[in-house]
Amino acid sequence: MIDPYIKHVHEAVSYIQSKTKHFAPTVALTLGSGLNTLADLIEPVATIPYADIPHFPIATVPGHEGKMILGILEGVPVVGLKGRKHFYEVARDPHAMDIVTFPVHVAASLGCTLYVATNAAGGLNPKYSVGDLMAIRSHIGLFQPSPLMGVYHDFGSTDFFQPQNTQYDPHLRTMFKKLDPSIHEGIYVAVTGRAYETQAECLMLRAMGADAVGMSTVPEIMVATNRGMKTFAVSMITNAIAKDGTNATNHEEVMAVLNSKTTEEKLYRVFREFFKKLTGAY
Ligand code: HPA
Repeated sequence: MIDPYIKHVHEAVSYIQSKTKHFAPTVALTLGSGLNTLADLIEPVATIPYADIPHFPIATVPGHEGKMILGILEGVPVVGLKGRKHFYEVARDPHAMDIVTFPVHVAASLGCTLYVATNAAGGLNPKYSVGDLMAIRSHIGLFQPSPLMGVYHDFGSTDFFQPQNTQYDPHLRTMFKKLDPSIHEGIYVAVTGRAYETQAECLMLRAMGADAVGMSTVPEIMVATNRGMKTFAVSMITNAIAKDGTNATNHEEVMAVLNSKTTEEKLYRVFREFFKKLTGAY
């Protein structure tokens, strides 16, 4: 019997292909909270609301638009995912991680060979300032279940026991870091949210070696790797966690940073350059 999950992914892919004809994206770009405007860099071939795509999870968090944009970004055929589903939105559903990572499977089945994630994160590293970017070197998945547990969806990956040493392509990280002096490279820790961290939790996360904390990206990267895609991810630091561990942020503060003109201009400039250099690099 065919795995119904795989069938659903194929139905979503067929629907998208029926709207885009022969367009074949090679890069998936997931745009996190407030990073939506990066989608403006894409010359669209088709824009499809998530709600129209069979089985596609609909983003419900303010700041997540819920649209797929297929088109060309600086010469690269991309599928832009404007808004994502977080684990905390569906945590009580027994298939939570299958829901969260559905778009990643769709991107892989559309033929993407590179998965790029962006997110907003709190800066644990005292050297990080609000508005800085961090290329993720490695991650710590904390308190969120692995998306590779439970029913194994056999899309033909050879890695049943998935190695995790190939994530966050080193060549792409080096290329990215050269684009702006405020770009760091560091460790991203994903916690469940939806609440921000306590003072004690921040001190623990910092002691563990994490440089930035957020609530997404890790399950997506694990599944993208399992589907054979190269991966790359960037955090925008929206709040600086104090030396004593106090995380005084709130959603409004995070969104205010993301929506500021300075942030937007920097993101546009850096991502445009990155995609220009991407041809032939992955
Ligand atoms: N913690 C978790 N997620 C976040 C933060 C934070 O401080 N800032 C933006 N996303």
